[in-house]
Amino acid sequence: MRALFPPWTNTAFRVALFLGVVGAIAALAYLMIYARSPYHTNEHRPVIQPIQFDHRHHVADDGIDCRYCHQTAWSSPSAGIPSTSLCLNCHSQIWNKSPLLDPLRAAYFTGEPIRWRRVHRLPDYVYFDHSIHVAKGVGCESCHGRVDEMPAVEMAAPLSMKWCLDCHRDPTPRIRPREAITQLGWTPSEDPGLLAAKLAIRYQLHTRTSCTTCHR
Ligand code: HEC
Ligand code: HEC
Ligand code: HEC
Ligand code: HEC
Ligand code: HEC
Repeated sequence: MRALFPPWTNTAFRVALFLGVVGAIAALAYLMIYARSPYHTNEHRPVIQPIQFDHRHHVADDGIDCRYCHQTAWSSPSAGIPSTSLCLNCHSQIWNKSPLLDPLRAAYFTGEPIRWRRVHRLPDYVYFDHSIHVAKGVGCESCHGRVDEMPAVEMAAPLSMKWCLDCHRDPTPRIRPREAITQLGWTPSEDPGLLAAKLAIRYQLHTRTSCTTCHR
């Protein structure tokens, strides 16, 4: 009697099994790498906004301090996005005919706020607070990078738990004087180690690694 399966099927079966296992491992590895990659965390991906607001022009060319537009970073968890009327403090005079600012005028006359799209967003189960970081001498640049060089704001850091903890375990080398919080490209004028140690005492710096710091 002829065998139900000819001998070559043995080899074929082994090859298929091998490919299946390798495929499964590759798929798993792909997902694990992808979850940590900038593609998934949205790092360095600019967002299209209703008005092409450009930090390069406002911060670098015109020298407007972050505080003028993101004032609540000093007093509350959220840094806040400026209102239409704040833009119009300047733009009722400057560029007041520009079509680039049509949506701004429309927002003003209808009273509908401009729908800025979020660039950074933590999951709801994570608690974050700008004011404590600012008070303890963590500069905007340390987390947001050089926004004065970005045509459209993009995330400069992954905002992952590991990223938060890397600093929370040892924040001292990452702090600067409070006066330099908004200064992009700041470099210490004295020995960096010495300055950081002095500031850590002055600002009563702590490490914060307990889960309830960020998950409450
Ligand atoms: C003239 C007002 C103005 C100034 C000055 C300004 N910003 Fe902004 N900023 C905005 C507006 C409007 C947006 C929302 C549109 C966008 O994302 O580009 C924004 C968005 C951002 C975002 C992204 C927010 C999000 O959606 O996650 C960051 C980060 C930011 N600004 C940081 C800074 C820093 C740091 C400075 C100082 C170096 C600064 N900004 C100065 C107006 C300003
Ligand atoms: C303190 C004054 C001031 C404020 C406040 C301000 N701007 Fe401007 N803006 C300027 C100046 C000055 C220019 C011209 C910049 C240049 O040509 O270098 C400008 C240019 C622009 C332009 C033209 C394109 C560009 O980037 O050159 C847009 C769009 C714009 N601003 C949007 C906004 C929006 C939206 C707000 C509110 C979130 C805002 N501005 C707040 C001063 C201001
Ligand atoms: C320790 C890191 C860190 C520092 C320092 C920091 N930010 Fe943020 N910023 C974040 C994170 C994280 C978010 C997203 C918050 C969320 O989704 O709840 C954010 C969000 C924002 C937003 C969007 C609006 C909001 O409040 O959610 C703006 C604007 C902003 N930051 C501006 C600033 C400015 C200006 C400074 C300096 C004064 C600054 N940030 C300092 C981490 C930081
Ligand atoms: C570059 C450094 C740095 C990064 C990055 C950073 N933090 Fe912080 N964080 C600090 C410092 C410094 C403090 C103040 C510690 C102290 O109490 O002395 C702080 C304090 C906090 C507090 C307040 C703790 C309390 O008990 O009042 C929260 C909440 C917090 N961070 C959340 C976060 C989250 C969430 C992230 C990531 C999205 C993050 N931080 C990223 C430096 C950092
Ligand atoms: C300094 C802030 C901070 C501290 C402290 C912290 N976490 Fe997180 N955690 C985060 C952030 C931010 C995320 C969101 C990460 C993301 O979206 O990629 C997160 C996400 C998580 C998640 C969701 C799964 C994941 O990994 O994305 C779990 C579970 C978690 N944290 C558990 C813990 C436990 C347990 C502790 C204490 C040992 C802890 N966290 C301490 C900031 C923190």
